[in-house]
Amino acid sequence: MSEEIQTEKKPATSPKEKRAGLFTRQALSTLGKIAAWGFLVSTILCTAVAVILSIFNGAPSVDIVTATILLLCAAILVMTGIRWMQALAVPLGIYILYRCLTEPFVVETLSHPKGSNGGFGEFSGDMLILASIMLAFVASIGIMIQNYRRTSRKNPRWFAPALSIIAGIAAGALVIGALAPSSTATAIAPLQAPQMPAGAGVPTSVNMGMAGAPVSVPQLQEPAITAHVDHFTLTAQSAHITLSSGIMIPAWTFNGTAPGPTLHVRQGDEVVVTLVNHLSFGVTIHWHGVRVPNSADGVAGVTQNAVKPGQSYVYRFIALDAGTYWYHSHQFSFEETTNGLYGMLIVDPATPTLHADVDYSVALHVWDGPHNQTVYTMNTTGGTLNQIARSGQWVRLRIVNTAETPSGNPQLVTLVGAPFQVVSLDGHDLNGPQWLNGTPLPIGSAQRYDLYFQMPSHGSVALVTADDSQGYVRAPALVIGQGSVPTKLPAITKWFDLTTYGTPAPDPVTARSRFNATYNIVLGNQMGSSLGRTGMTYTMNGKVFPDTGMIMVKEGQLIKLHFDNHTNLYHPMHLHGHIFTVLEENGKPLTGSPVHQDTVLVPPHTTYDVAFVANNPGIWMLHCHNFLHANWGMDMMVMYNVSTPYTVGSVSGNFPD
Ligand code: C2O
Ligand code: CU
Repeated sequence: MSEEIQTEKKPATSPKEKRAGLFTRQALSTLGKIAAWGFLVSTILCTAVAVILSIFNGAPSVDIVTATILLLCAAILVMTGIRWMQALAVPLGIYILYRCLTEPFVVETLSHPKGSNGGFGEFSGDMLILASIMLAFVASIGIMIQNYRRTSRKNPRWFAPALSIIAGIAAGALVIGALAPSSTATAIAPLQAPQMPAGAGVPTSVNMGMAGAPVSVPQLQEPAITAHVDHFTLTAQSAHITLSSGIMIPAWTFNGTAPGPTLHVRQGDEVVVTLVNHLSFGVTIHWHGVRVPNSADGVAGVTQNAVKPGQSYVYRFIALDAGTYWYHSHQFSFEETTNGLYGMLIVDPATPTLHADVDYSVALHVWDGPHNQTVYTMNTTGGTLNQIARSGQWVRLRIVNTAETPSGNPQLVTLVGAPFQVVSLDGHDLNGPQWLNGTPLPIGSAQRYDLYFQMPSHGSVALVTADDSQGYVRAPALVIGQGSVPTKLPAITKWFDLTTYGTPAPDPVTARSRFNATYNIVLGNQMGSSLGRTGMTYTMNGKVFPDTGMIMVKEGQLIKLHFDNHTNLYHPMHLHGHIFTVLEENGKPLTGSPVHQDTVLVPPHTTYDVAFVANNPGIWMLHCHNFLHANWGMDMMVMYNVSTPYTVGSVSGNFPD
């Protein structure tokens, strides 16, 4: 270095040679070279990151593209060796630095180092950009100084240490960020325990049962039979859900994860689940879609009291029907289920009806993320969920929508990479399902779709979702087999229509059956009050829960319900403890396979006729499974002549929705 300083101390021969640049003929000092090369390399790195992100991650963020373009401009200006152009590069550099430090992606990266797994790519990408930009900035200043110092050509002494300190910090941050466990101290506020409604208009003590009835809910138990018993313990507890993107979401969970453990049982088994409550407020478990005895239905204030903190409760039922089901809390379910108290229950048939080499399930959920973002997940990831299957293998893929989108529209999903069949809805098999190619499947809150397909001879199959009909997105997504989410996703085409899908078959209940009673239920919404609050209420025949009345049935009756949706919204209507046969949409009988569901999605301004056999005595909720709608009134009871010792309201603290 001293030699070069010596050389440069020689008098300059011409003004042209005084220019210092990477491609000018005059020799740069060592530091000048480092600076210039540093700038060049960092610009290339930055461009490479942007290109890599666009290839492997869909699209680089606008921030990264902007930074890259500005940096390229600055680099070109500096490399010209023309002084005034280099001078222009400095304000540009300052602007880039300013952009990078004020853009949230950099700030968030620095304030929340992302975990050792999954977050690495994003973190290193961000850090690389930042490091590049800092290097570039320092380099351009270094060159400027060298260019303009006429009197003393000595390299500024601070320059080398400054450059290496900054490079060191950047490299160190990269390593720390890659290795550090995710910090639990995030800026996300902890969840607030559900607030007991209080004050005028809040029911104090409403008994949903028939006073003096011969049977009471606690008597409606599974008879003791000899069956294979599956024991499970589900502990309600707080946890943080860490998404692969590094986002941490505070949650209430069963056993520390959301979804909670998938309970896998065989048809005919006795299922015994002990619920232990380690949360600071009451919880229950409802077995959604499962024909349980009434005392195991998990509805706070109707079939049990909410299980208090520190207490436990045992659910016991026979898994009568094979299929895809799920479970969730039915105390303040608007808050408790959406914040994580849910999981899947899969009942394998006693005699298999379909051969599947692999059987996977995904729960689609929607979370309130940081900064009021809506975060969509598949099982525990907001990114790509990978599962394995070899080419030629048959796959059964079970999908449940455990939440609702902000708009209340159904979640749209489709399969890319293989033709597929919808083999069952809400756990009930369809007859003669046709092959579909990229058909969008609308899944209302609480509904399930089982897909069946064969792995292609090469490549992978992806399940992608669309956010409110605006087009499929690349995350969250499920990828089965070797590969990644395709860069080109199909456009949203005509939705799957369950009223025309599959092949007709005889069914015990049809639109022409003789019904013992028919009930019209108008689904509405209007400003009003519910549980002491004023706001948009969701009504059944103009009333809100608990004033909605009840549907009285007798054991053995065939009951028809006529849902008449007067709103602009979707209402996934769910009846506990029974299974609907779907009869008609807008007065038109189904033309395909018979369809049996526990949750029927009633589109805006549409009517749906469904029927059920009253074969399970008890007090059963009939409600919209949009949690917001249920929370603001859209619930009623289907009632056999049964009493209950439990009450809904502020005295007991039981509020099922
Ligand atoms: Cu998932 Cu009252 O239901
Ligand atoms: Cu609704």
